[in-house]
Amino acid sequence: MTEVIQGVTGDPTVYVNGEFLPLSKASISVLDRGFIFGDGIYEVVPIYHGQPFRMQEHLERLDRSLSKLEITPPMDGQSRSDLVKQLIAKGSDKGCAMVYIQVTRGVAKRDHAFPVPPVKPTVFAMLAPMTPPGTEQRSNGLSAISIADDRWLHCDIKSVSLLGNVLAKQAAVKAGVDEVIQFRADYLTEGASCNIWVVKNGAVYAPPKDNLVLEGIRYGLFEELCREQGIAFHLSPIPRADVEVADELMLSSATREILPIVKLDHEDVGTGKPGPVYQQLRRAYDDRIAALASTGQPA
Ligand SMILES: Cc1ncc(COP(=O)(O)O)c(C=O)c1O
Repeated sequence: MTEVIQGVTGDPTVYVNGEFLPLSKASISVLDRGFIFGDGIYEVVPIYHGQPFRMQEHLERLDRSLSKLEITPPMDGQSRSDLVKQLIAKGSDKGCAMVYIQVTRGVAKRDHAFPVPPVKPTVFAMLAPMTPPGTEQRSNGLSAISIADDRWLHCDIKSVSLLGNVLAKQAAVKAGVDEVIQFRADYLTEGASCNIWVVKNGAVYAPPKDNLVLEGIRYGLFEELCREQGIAFHLSPIPRADVEVADELMLSSATREILPIVKLDHEDVGTGKPGPVYQQLRRAYDDRIAALASTGQPA
């Protein structure tokens, strides 16, 4: 088989509705509400040195997303973490990877309203390779453009209905930059698939954890790292004008970890180079990843 999951040749084992099977044999119904309506949620758990990173936090967010959609969790907490560990064990990649989990409302006659119970949620999960940011991105930083955030008002749900995010990312591709920074009514929200962090006078700022952003698992992690490093950390609404005069901008996500944004709308951010707060947090993040290898314990 040719490359079916990016970077994976062969026929990797995936999980569908209680069964582990080769990807070539995995299927779901065309009437699945995830396919028909985007009626489902997902999670991405990064794996380093064969160990999940912040798994509990990711699985708790999966539960919160399910609860917001009134989908009954199809697995209990232990089974979900066992699933992640089983996929890691079955995979050949013992380095960097990610476990992708998707849960939809299940298969039902096409009708917008929730189907009458009992309908079993569909669960799909796979291990996929993850390429962490390379030296070039870490040392030289990324570029971004600002765009209006025209997504819906439930961005706190990690929904598979990602059209707004897909269009936002495509706007970055068309502009020849790495990311977009979205603003709603001239206030910072987030990137197309990442959170955005603003540094001013040595302190780190991010938008509040409300319905306008996805609360990245790095929100909690950055708060911890900032406390540990003696860096002031604030969540508050951030007007566009403050972003434009930031000393540093950073993005974060499970797969891109933490990266500096050094150009916004073709202008330098601060000095136009990755700044000291980024460097400090980057080292602290790397230490957490390294700790997974030495302790084998969740970081
Ligand atoms: C829209 C959006 N915001 C923020 C994030 C960052 O979340 P996390 O740090 O949990 O990966 C993501 C990650 O995919 C995202 O898609």
